[in-house]
Amino acid sequence: MPQSPCILILNGPNLNLLGTREPEVYGRDTLADVEALCQARAEHHGLLIDFRQSNREGDLVDWVQEARGRCSGIVVNAGAYTHTSVALLDALLAVQLPAVEVHLSNLFKREEFRHHSYISQAAIGLICGFGKDGYAYALDALASCLGCKEEA
Ligand code: DQA
Repeated sequence: MPQSPCILILNGPNLNLLGTREPEVYGRDTLADVEALCQARAEHHGLLIDFRQSNREGDLVDWVQEARGRCSGIVVNAGAYTHTSVALLDALLAVQLPAVEVHLSNLFKREEFRHHSYISQAAIGLICGFGKDGYAYALDALASCLGCKEEA
């Protein structure tokens, strides 16, 4: 049996605080809840996930680089690095894996500095404003892109 494709799910700074961080913006679900949702969605598509979070930009860059040859796609919520990180954009462009950008909140209903994303240029698409469900939609999009068969 060939090994199931693995999706790297990257979470940037302050996402470890989900559940208590500005719940009126980000909801009451914790990052562990997001991971459980991703795990269930991935199983539905016959995918494996590698779910990670870091507050450090360099960790995120390293993990994107290491995904080459190991993972088949990336889901990325880069948190505030979305709006600042050319390094993360360059890493995503370098590995050339299909990537879906996710944000819990609707960036376009928020401050203007959140309207620009460096990540979008390297992503096949962007999902924002659906809370944690956005991660499941991102996995759906990657599964469709990778031609995965759904499990009954
Ligand atoms: C976020 C939106 C970013 O602007 C913010 O810095 C975050 C979370 C989101 O998921 O809505 O940390 O990426």
